[in-house]
Amino acid sequence: MSAEREPIGVIGVGWVGLVTAACFAELGHRVVARDIVAEKVEALSRGETTIHEPGLGELVRRNAERLTFTTEMDELLDVARILFVCVDTPPTRSGDADLSRVRSVIEELREDGDHVLAMKSTVPAGTGEAIRRDMPQLAYVSCPEFLKEGSAVEDFMQPDRVVIGADPGDESAGDAVAAIYEPLGGEIVRTDVASAEMIKLASNAFLATKISFVNEIANVCEEVGADVGEVARGMGLDQRIGPSFLRAGIGYGGSCFPKDVSALKMLAGNTGYHFQLLNAVIEVNELQKRRVVQKLRGHLGSLAGRRVVLLGLAFKPQTDDMREASSLVLAARLQGEGAEVVAYDPVATEVARDQLPGVEFYDSAMGALDGADAAVLVTEWPEFAELDWVAAVGRMARPLIVDGRNFLDPETLRAAGFEYEGIGRAGQGAPSTAAAD
Ligand code: UGA
Repeated sequence: MSAEREPIGVIGVGWVGLVTAACFAELGHRVVARDIVAEKVEALSRGETTIHEPGLGELVRRNAERLTFTTEMDELLDVARILFVCVDTPPTRSGDADLSRVRSVIEELREDGDHVLAMKSTVPAGTGEAIRRDMPQLAYVSCPEFLKEGSAVEDFMQPDRVVIGADPGDESAGDAVAAIYEPLGGEIVRTDVASAEMIKLASNAFLATKISFVNEIANVCEEVGADVGEVARGMGLDQRIGPSFLRAGIGYGGSCFPKDVSALKMLAGNTGYHFQLLNAVIEVNELQKRRVVQKLRGHLGSLAGRRVVLLGLAFKPQTDDMREASSLVLAARLQGEGAEVVAYDPVATEVARDQLPGVEFYDSAMGALDGADAAVLVTEWPEFAELDWVAAVGRMARPLIVDGRNFLDPETLRAAGFEYEGIGRAGQGAPSTAAAD
């Protein structure tokens, strides 16, 4: 059987699962994707994608003949030998990764003998070894995913690298999984299972560390009158540092960084090792979201009764994902200060509505800005760069903006009549310490 035609099973049709299924179908594989949520399976079977991800809907529709969705595990087991597990592993109350969904998948496979389990779900190092011990008849391959929401299809199809971990005895299963990825052309890194599991956690933790690092640099820039954009540019040209993930802002969110940083910290802690650095990464990120409140207070004094607009709600642009979005903390803190919070997001409003009680939602940025005392740019949606900021000045009660992503051009905004403040940008003075949050 040629690698292109190897039928593939995908278990769990969330962000990673759906992208994986659609992309493998695009590569010519027959793919059976299974999820336990019947409504999701029905919607996908009708060609409706359940998440907002550029290019994904098109891919699902284009490959409808090769890509089927089901709630039945048996359908999948009958067709495919290689099964990609893409169920989520959210944090438990203890901050460890919750493996209950991975375990229920394994339970369903218990009687089955001839399958390769390719683990895409992010799991703590050691999980693969434990599964392999429980189910010696299964071949086990760790195959972590590195795609980013908002560019998931592109990341999947043009990977920087593909990591495939297999332990002795499972090498041929590793070869079979590697063959599926070969047409994509990215470097294939072959390791043992525990190392592959660690590569995933360490990569996310390192990227989160870069962000918290640059956020602290931004905070110091504010104290000394430097500009973090210039600093990051100057640092990033050093090839040992690199330019990416050095954008200062109001903290990282999403379903991955917060969860994986915590999971790695706990994984280390469970073995008796104190991963000090990650404590700081987490704390800096939490405090960074709140600095906006301090900045607003520096301009407005008390926030009680002030109308504050959140421009953007999703944890990043090109997605409607609200998981661990900075907007959630920010809205609650502003409401805690007595502010009236209103919001606009081009795609995330429906997802956000239930999670932001007391927030008034608008269907345009301009509508939300009407009569407002301040705006906070939370998510760098491209349309905010195109907004008629001169008109916005006339609509707002006080044209004040805190640009939480350093996305807007300060000169343009100031020329339009705005009081503009970014994160660690030059020319904005130090935040008022008298009004510390
Ligand atoms: C992240 C990783 O980038 C992917 O490689 C990984 O596969 C994925 O987690 C995962 O484990 O599933 P994702 O969470 O989709 O991807 O989004 P990112 O683009 O990494 O952004 C995460 C957060 O960091 C966002 O809130 C973003 O605004 C913030 N960020 C990113 C910054 O504040 N500054 C930066 O320079 C970059």
